[in-house]
Amino acid sequence: MNKEHLDDLISYLKFPSVSTDSQYKENVRECAEWLSDKINLVGLESSIYQTAGHPIVVGRNKHSSDKPTVMIYGHYDVQPADPIDLWESPPFEPLIKEGKIYARGSTDNKGQNLAHLLGLGETISESGELPVNIIYLVEGEEEIGSPNLEPFLLEHKDELKCDVVAVSDTGMIGPGIGTFTYGLRGVACMEVKVIGPSKDLHSGVFGGAVANPCAAMSKMIASLHDLEGRVRVEGFYDKVKEIEDWEKAEWSKIQVDENETLNLTGSPDLFGEVGYSDNERRWSRPTAEINGIGGGYQGEGSKTVIASESFVKLSFRLVPDQDPEEILNLVKSHLDDHKPPGVRVEYEMGHSGKAYLMDPQSGYGLAAQKALKTTFDSDPALIREGGSIPIVQSFKDILGVDTLLLGLALPDCQIHSPNENFSIENFYDGIRLNRNLINEIGSAF
Ligand code: BES
Ligand code: ZN
Repeated sequence: MNKEHLDDLISYLKFPSVSTDSQYKENVRECAEWLSDKINLVGLESSIYQTAGHPIVVGRNKHSSDKPTVMIYGHYDVQPADPIDLWESPPFEPLIKEGKIYARGSTDNKGQNLAHLLGLGETISESGELPVNIIYLVEGEEEIGSPNLEPFLLEHKDELKCDVVAVSDTGMIGPGIGTFTYGLRGVACMEVKVIGPSKDLHSGVFGGAVANPCAAMSKMIASLHDLEGRVRVEGFYDKVKEIEDWEKAEWSKIQVDENETLNLTGSPDLFGEVGYSDNERRWSRPTAEINGIGGGYQGEGSKTVIASESFVKLSFRLVPDQDPEEILNLVKSHLDDHKPPGVRVEYEMGHSGKAYLMDPQSGYGLAAQKALKTTFDSDPALIREGGSIPIVQSFKDILGVDTLLLGLALPDCQIHSPNENFSIENFYDGIRLNRNLINEIGSAF
């Protein structure tokens, strides 16, 4: 194991490259510059592209027409670290403990995209060149829905022409079990405001005579699900692609024990759409989630008040072949229909991205599985994932290519949560996986 690789990871993780919070804008840029320097150091040529938001970093080798072109995609931005008091060590001071490195962004996604870069670097220093043409593209806005990457793909379509994309930003079903992800859920977000009186009112003086926005909002939100975990929005399931029999069979073989999921989540019980297994619910069924809810008095003690407004942040996980925009419109009509009298509703549509599904038995799919088999010395698991990487379907729509999802995140890596960590073994396995992948693709295509 090359110790310098771990030092590189530590340096990369020290940047608080939180994309959603403008207070970190400068840190995000510094992180992009560090990565760009690293790309040059491993022997690729790097460019930083400014966008309307955070920069996109692209590294390339010298391309030749007789080699296949592989784009490796990742993101150097991270989720906010809060709630900060629940971290056992500071989120941007990487700590190595019991074979894991703890820091925000360690798994999602710096550890995984750096593994690819270092793998390329090892091949270049050993062989002087790569067996494929590489476009190593790392963006700084994945965690906010990649608003500037799609325009970038359209603008640079010719330079970004490739045969396949490879991404390590998904999970492994367990330590040492290579996992090929052939599908992702999509996502669509919206914020809803329920507005009542023009100011907060005394709940004794006016209570019972004006509608309460928090109560109205509660009714609207409660209308989204039935008691069996199904989404009640009319038309929501119309375009949902049914799970194939082979997937059901494959996934039932790797279904983890219920207690393990209870342990991982700390939830008192599991709950989801009746008639589906846990894997099926998370990987192939759409959902309506309430991500945040607010309004009224939140301080200590009680305050007898009717708040003038309340809000909710909603997101919907989508599956093939649901259309994000269509779903947001259906939800809006549903909420309008369930609005109680006496309040007004305002909607703000947020970012969205389609679900992704590829044929795992395609030529590149098989090459990726071979590389996983070589790396982990056993047949890979075939899964879909519940999380979203919205740009993956845009790679298909704009560049016309499939994305090979070769994730290295372990079930207990705590992405988006306090104490996010990355297994150091997976970091080094990721470096080997990159080497095996480009060798496999270089020799097969
Ligand atoms: N790496 C995740 C996506 C992921 C997580 C895929 C686990 C599979 C398993 C990615 O960085 C992410 O968090 N995506 C966001 C996208 C959203 C902000 C548009 C997500 O899924 O919430
Ligand atoms: Zn993420």
